[in-house]
Amino acid sequence: MVYCLRRRELASMAHGLRIINIVGARPNLPKISPLLREMQRHPEIEPILIHTGQHYDETLSDIFFRQMGIPAPQVNLEVGSGSHAAQTAEILKRIEPVLFNRQPDLVLVVGDVNSTLAASLAAVKLGIRVAHVEAGLRSFDRSMPEEINRVVTDALADYLFVTEQDAIEHLLREGRPRESIFLVGNVMIDSLRHFLPIAQQSRIGEELGLKNGSDWRRFAVLTLHRPSNVDSTEKLTGLLRAIDVVAAQIPVVFPVHPRAQQRLTQAGIGHHPQLLIIPPIGYLDFLCLLSRATLVMTDSGGIQEETTALGVPCLTLRENTERPVTISEGTNLLVGTDPCKIVAAAQDILAGKGKAGRIPPLWDGHAAERIVDILLTAAPRGKAP
Ligand code: UD1
Repeated sequence: MVYCLRRRELASMAHGLRIINIVGARPNLPKISPLLREMQRHPEIEPILIHTGQHYDETLSDIFFRQMGIPAPQVNLEVGSGSHAAQTAEILKRIEPVLFNRQPDLVLVVGDVNSTLAASLAAVKLGIRVAHVEAGLRSFDRSMPEEINRVVTDALADYLFVTEQDAIEHLLREGRPRESIFLVGNVMIDSLRHFLPIAQQSRIGEELGLKNGSDWRRFAVLTLHRPSNVDSTEKLTGLLRAIDVVAAQIPVVFPVHPRAQQRLTQAGIGHHPQLLIIPPIGYLDFLCLLSRATLVMTDSGGIQEETTALGVPCLTLRENTERPVTISEGTNLLVGTDPCKIVAAAQDILAGKGKAGRIPPLWDGHAAERIVDILLTAAPRGKAP
């Protein structure tokens, strides 16, 4: 370890602030994109990108790189799918020599996927400091794999960049030092603001028969991928019965995640013809649909935030959320998974009684700038915050 630290000190004299950035799964990509763009504006930073390969399909990974102009990763660990333990262990094993050889000053992780946790753990064990972007979010539901990833990553990280005030309270309660916590805004909303004008040129509306000329029909967007919602046929069937009621009134576009697709195929669940089940779509098409939807129904974390930023009514089909600001300030309503409640809440929105919201503080498109400024000033090489 002493050898490892000496090598890093020596190396850092010869190069800028060397930051290894980690991505693994689809939601990491809109978060890393503005950070890399900002790092590239600073010649004193040497950004390196590592893809763990947790997601590997064209539609869950490659298309995001292309559409957002994310540079190809210098290293792809190609871990692929597996059980939680197997996937996490494989990332740990494969990333350790890469971190050791590249000697970064800092490892930056985003979000709450298995790759986030595994990369953080490997880094701190090598004495490398870790920055966690999107720290402090808590659902207080330990049956969610992401909650475990969030808690452990935050316990390990040296720099905790948070999107909302509640996150600060959570981190302080867990004993994290105040000086390591920075309220910076939301990098995913940086991406949303940056790419929204380009997304408006998408042809997805015409392709799905939702747009004629410049006129959009009313429609809803649905996403479901949480194990708690899609791994049980009974639960998924109940949810889709509720969605069918909505689909009887307006088309509902449902880009299906592979996890949900596996269950739909196995169970052969039927659905209303206006429930448009399509394969996963790229970032720009999805953003276009979100921005034009009358109603969004989701169990995703990020989509709760994107709809709040867009001012589009969102029903979250879960019993809890780690993103309470989308409820207290935004357009999100935590409706749960009871089909009757989902239908009633959707009817309210279709009748024009959706919740109005406002955009949370600092969700202004400049979060990545703040993070990079802090890393450059508050994180001089080798020093704790
Ligand atoms: C993962 C994240 C979740 C995130 C989600 C976004 C964890 C614990 N979960 O869940 O937080 O919200 O990504 O999509 O990190 N598969 C493919 N192609 C791929 C990747 C996966 O077909 O490129 C299939 C595999 O059969 C795999 C299943 O999808 O077993 C689930 O993938 P996995 O990465 O384990 O979890 P997600 O449900 O995608």
